[in-house]
Amino acid sequence: MKTTFSIIKADVGGCPGHAKVHERLIEVAENKLKEAKENGIIKDFFVTNCGDDLELIMTHDKGEDNEEVHGLAWNVFKEATETAKELGLYGAGQDLLKDAFSGNIKGMGPGIAEMEFTERKSEPVIAFLMDKTEPGAFNLPIFRIFADPFNTAGLVIDPNLHSGFVFEIWDIKEHKRVFMKCPEEMYDLLALIGAKSRFVIKRVFPKEGKLPSNEPVAVVSTEKLYQIAGEYIGKDDPVAIVRAQSGLPALGEVLEPFAFPHLVSGWMRGSHNGPIMPVSLKQAKCTRFDGPPRVVAIGFQVKNGMLTGYEDLFDDPAFDYTRQKAMEIAEYMRRHGPFEPHRLPLEEMEYTTLPKVMEKLKERFEEV
Ligand code: F6R
Ligand code: MG
Ligand code: MG
Repeated sequence: MKTTFSIIKADVGGCPGHAKVHERLIEVAENKLKEAKENGIIKDFFVTNCGDDLELIMTHDKGEDNEEVHGLAWNVFKEATETAKELGLYGAGQDLLKDAFSGNIKGMGPGIAEMEFTERKSEPVIAFLMDKTEPGAFNLPIFRIFADPFNTAGLVIDPNLHSGFVFEIWDIKEHKRVFMKCPEEMYDLLALIGAKSRFVIKRVFPKEGKLPSNEPVAVVSTEKLYQIAGEYIGKDDPVAIVRAQSGLPALGEVLEPFAFPHLVSGWMRGSHNGPIMPVSLKQAKCTRFDGPPRVVAIGFQVKNGMLTGYEDLFDDPAFDYTRQKAMEIAEYMRRHGPFEPHRLPLEEMEYTTLPKVMEKLKERFEEV
């Protein structure tokens, strides 16, 4: 049987500031999704947050881009926005960029990661949720999970993984995509995805073998809020879904790249580089300099479209060292203040005063 696993998320108000989602918004979402489960729109759900993003994790049998499921998510965010307004939460309705829903939530502000797949007899699925960064932040860990033999032992020693994977790469500036095979095209692939603000991994597929090669095993949300709204209204805090085990990377191989707090862009005002810190759900609130950027991982077993689990996977001393390392890097980066490479290069900054500063100094610039 085929199951669709959908994560649809939006920032519809923070408390305080852009730190965290308020409990009441989680309650609103849970009540709405409970009703939808009773009405058969979805099979199961789990509501949580990473920082100021309200995350709807849903399973159903309606496939990707389903109007009813997307409409449900939109209505949840609308209702949560009303509550956010009543409570005076910060940035209420921030990510809802359009007024009327017209069949698909894509391009309306919220971020979406969805995949439909044939359930194996046991199906471990991990939901990754990030705050204060952008979709390209997933390039390094997803590459390492499915293509780096120093991360994923199975690529070398498990005959079911040995042939590698196919990566679907999106050029998010030119709106084009390309499918690339790994390991055959690894260097070309890296030439693209190393430029993470432009080329992002959208999906990963298995090659011919044990699993259907047309069903994704990983998917990342790639919505660009900036392009939808035409002005900065917040970062495109991304989410991803990864399936694991039996012919795919093991759970531990899926989590392993997050033991390295790599540098991502986002953080304060969407305009700074900083380390991504793996945290528990309880610690998923952005504090220091509105960050540092965070990632949570929630593990489920999926059976007949129902969620069994959940496990808060970074709530573990095994990631204490990474958190400590992330804070050392955060401290080091912060000391640069307004200088690059802590502050992003001009063309990637989400806030800038430069045009105004240039205008003011226009008359005073001399030829040299
Ligand atoms: C980053 C983010 C925050 C805000 C910052 C300023 O993605 O959401 O760092 O950019 O707190 O917010 P405003 O302009 O709303 O005061
Ligand atoms: Mg916010
Ligand atoms: Mg956010």
